[in-house]
Amino acid sequence: MIRSLGVVLAAALAMGAKDPSKAEWDPRDDGPDKIDVSSWPPAMQKRYPIFSAKCSKCHPVARPVNSRFDATEWKRYMKKMIRRPNSGINEEQAADIYEFLKYFSAKQGAK
Ligand code: HEC
Repeated sequence: MIRSLGVVLAAALAMGAKDPSKAEWDPRDDGPDKIDVSSWPPAMQKRYPIFSAKCSKCHPVARPVNSRFDATEWKRYMKKMIRRPNSGINEEQAADIYEFLKYFSAKQGAK
Protein backbone atom coordinates (compact mmCIF):
# COMPACT_ATOMS: atom_id res chain seq x y z
CA MET A 1 0.00 0.00 0.00
CA ILE A 2 2.66 2.51 1.11
CA ARG A 3 4.83 1.35 -1.74
CA SER A 4 2.17 1.80 -4.39
CA LEU A 5 1.47 5.30 -3.07
CA GLY A 6 5.14 6.10 -3.58
CA VAL A 7 4.96 4.83 -7.15
CA VAL A 8 1.94 7.00 -7.86
CA LEU A 9 3.69 10.05 -6.38
CA ALA A 10 6.83 9.41 -8.38
CA ALA A 11 4.75 9.05 -11.53
CA ALA A 12 2.89 12.30 -10.79
CA LEU A 13 6.20 14.11 -10.27
CA ALA A 14 7.61 12.64 -13.45
CA MET A 15 4.59 14.00 -15.30
CA GLY A 16 5.33 17.46 -13.94
CA ALA A 17 2.43 17.66 -11.49
CA LYS A 18 4.53 19.34 -8.82
CA ASP A 19 6.85 21.24 -11.13
CA PRO A 20 6.60 24.93 -10.17
CA SER A 21 7.55 26.03 -13.69
CA LYS A 22 4.32 24.49 -15.02
CA ALA A 23 1.08 26.45 -15.02
CA GLU A 24 -1.91 25.00 -13.16
CA TRP A 25 -4.46 23.15 -15.30
CA ASP A 26 -6.95 25.34 -17.14
CA PRO A 27 -10.06 24.13 -19.06
CA ARG A 28 -8.59 25.58 -22.28
CA ASP A 29 -5.75 23.04 -22.03
CA ASP A 30 -8.14 20.24 -23.02
CA GLY A 31 -9.40 21.99 -26.16
CA PRO A 32 -7.99 21.68 -29.70
CA ASP A 33 -4.22 22.19 -29.80
CA LYS A 34 -3.85 23.02 -33.49
CA ILE A 35 -4.60 25.99 -35.71
CA ASP A 36 -5.34 25.36 -39.39
CA VAL A 37 -2.96 27.82 -41.04
CA SER A 38 -3.09 26.20 -44.49
CA SER A 39 -4.86 29.24 -46.00
CA TRP A 40 -2.70 31.81 -44.18
CA PRO A 41 0.01 33.90 -45.93
CA PRO A 42 3.37 32.09 -46.06
CA ALA A 43 5.02 34.64 -43.73
CA MET A 44 2.40 33.83 -41.09
CA GLN A 45 2.64 30.07 -41.67
CA LYS A 46 6.38 30.28 -40.99
CA ARG A 47 5.66 31.69 -37.53
CA TYR A 48 3.35 28.86 -36.52
CA PRO A 49 6.12 26.41 -35.46
CA ILE A 50 7.79 29.16 -33.38
CA PHE A 51 4.51 29.76 -31.60
CA SER A 52 3.79 26.08 -31.00
CA ALA A 53 7.31 25.33 -29.79
CA LYS A 54 7.67 28.35 -27.51
CA CYS A 55 4.17 28.57 -26.06
CA SER A 56 3.92 24.93 -25.01
CA LYS A 57 6.67 24.93 -22.41
CA CYS A 58 4.70 25.70 -19.24
CA HIS A 59 1.16 24.83 -20.38
CA PRO A 60 -0.18 23.03 -23.44
CA VAL A 61 -0.21 25.16 -26.57
CA ALA A 62 -3.98 24.58 -26.41
CA ARG A 63 -4.17 27.32 -23.78
CA PRO A 64 -3.38 30.20 -26.18
CA VAL A 65 -5.05 28.35 -29.09
CA ASN A 66 -8.35 28.39 -27.15
CA SER A 67 -8.02 31.94 -25.86
CA ARG A 68 -9.91 34.79 -27.50
CA PHE A 69 -7.90 38.00 -27.17
CA ASP A 70 -7.51 41.02 -29.41
CA ALA A 71 -4.11 42.39 -30.50
CA THR A 72 -3.76 44.71 -27.49
CA GLU A 73 -4.51 41.90 -25.06
CA TRP A 74 -2.10 39.57 -26.85
CA LYS A 75 0.63 42.17 -26.53
CA ARG A 76 0.02 42.32 -22.79
CA TYR A 77 0.03 38.53 -22.43
CA MET A 78 3.16 38.16 -24.55
CA LYS A 79 5.01 40.54 -22.23
CA LYS A 80 3.74 38.65 -19.20
CA MET A 81 4.80 35.26 -20.64
CA ILE A 82 8.28 36.26 -21.79
CA ARG A 83 9.04 37.94 -18.46
CA ARG A 84 8.62 34.62 -16.65
CA PRO A 85 11.90 33.02 -15.53
CA ASN A 86 13.21 30.54 -18.10
CA SER A 87 10.58 31.39 -20.69
CA GLY A 88 13.24 30.62 -23.32
CA ILE A 89 11.74 33.23 -25.66
CA ASN A 90 13.95 36.00 -27.05
CA GLU A 91 12.84 39.40 -28.39
CA GLU A 92 12.89 38.31 -32.01
CA GLN A 93 10.82 35.18 -31.34
CA ALA A 94 8.42 37.22 -29.21
CA ALA A 95 7.93 39.68 -32.09
CA ASP A 96 7.21 36.80 -34.50
CA ILE A 97 4.78 35.16 -32.09
CA TYR A 98 3.04 38.46 -31.49
CA GLU A 99 2.54 38.98 -35.27
CA PHE A 100 1.18 35.44 -35.46
CA LEU A 101 -1.28 35.98 -32.59
CA LYS A 102 -2.39 39.33 -33.97
CA TYR A 103 -3.26 37.64 -37.27
CA PHE A 104 -4.94 34.79 -35.39
CA SER A 105 -7.17 37.21 -33.45
CA ALA A 106 -8.08 39.08 -36.66
CA LYS A 107 -9.06 35.72 -38.21
CA GLN A 108 -11.26 35.05 -35.20
CA GLY A 109 -12.97 38.37 -35.81
CA ALA A 110 -11.40 40.36 -32.95
CA LYS A 111 -10.84 44.11 -33.24
C1 HEC B 1 7.83 30.17 -18.54
C2 HEC B 1 6.51 29.57 -18.59
C3 HEC B 1 5.53 30.03 -19.65
C4 HEC B 1 5.75 30.19 -21.01
C5 HEC B 1 7.03 29.94 -21.79
C6 HEC B 1 4.49 30.62 -21.56
N1 HEC B 1 3.54 30.71 -20.59
FE1 HEC B 1 1.60 31.23 -20.85
N2 HEC B 1 1.24 30.96 -18.85
C7 HEC B 1 2.18 30.57 -17.92
C8 HEC B 1 1.54 30.49 -16.61
C9 HEC B 1 2.25 30.10 -15.31
C10 HEC B 1 0.18 30.83 -16.80
C11 HEC B 1 -0.95 30.89 -15.73
C12 HEC B 1 -0.89 32.15 -14.93
C13 HEC B 1 -1.23 33.36 -15.74
O1 HEC B 1 -2.30 33.39 -16.37
O2 HEC B 1 -0.39 34.27 -15.77
C14 HEC B 1 0.02 31.12 -18.23
C15 HEC B 1 -1.16 31.49 -18.80
C16 HEC B 1 -1.34 31.78 -20.14
C17 HEC B 1 -2.59 32.22 -20.75
C18 HEC B 1 -3.91 32.40 -20.03
C19 HEC B 1 -4.00 33.84 -19.58
C20 HEC B 1 -5.33 34.23 -19.01
O3 HEC B 1 -5.35 34.87 -17.96
O4 HEC B 1 -6.37 33.93 -19.61
C21 HEC B 1 -2.33 32.43 -22.07
C22 HEC B 1 -3.32 32.90 -23.12
C23 HEC B 1 -0.93 32.15 -22.28
N3 HEC B 1 -0.36 31.74 -21.11
C24 HEC B 1 -0.30 32.28 -23.50
C25 HEC B 1 1.04 32.02 -23.72
C26 HEC B 1 1.70 32.25 -25.00
C27 HEC B 1 1.03 32.83 -26.24
C28 HEC B 1 2.99 31.86 -24.84
C29 HEC B 1 4.12 31.91 -25.86
C30 HEC B 1 4.54 33.24 -26.23
C31 HEC B 1 3.15 31.40 -23.45
N4 HEC B 1 1.94 31.52 -22.82
C32 HEC B 1 4.31 30.93 -22.91
C33 HEC B 1 3.50 30.30 -18.17
C34 HEC B 1 4.13 30.37 -19.40
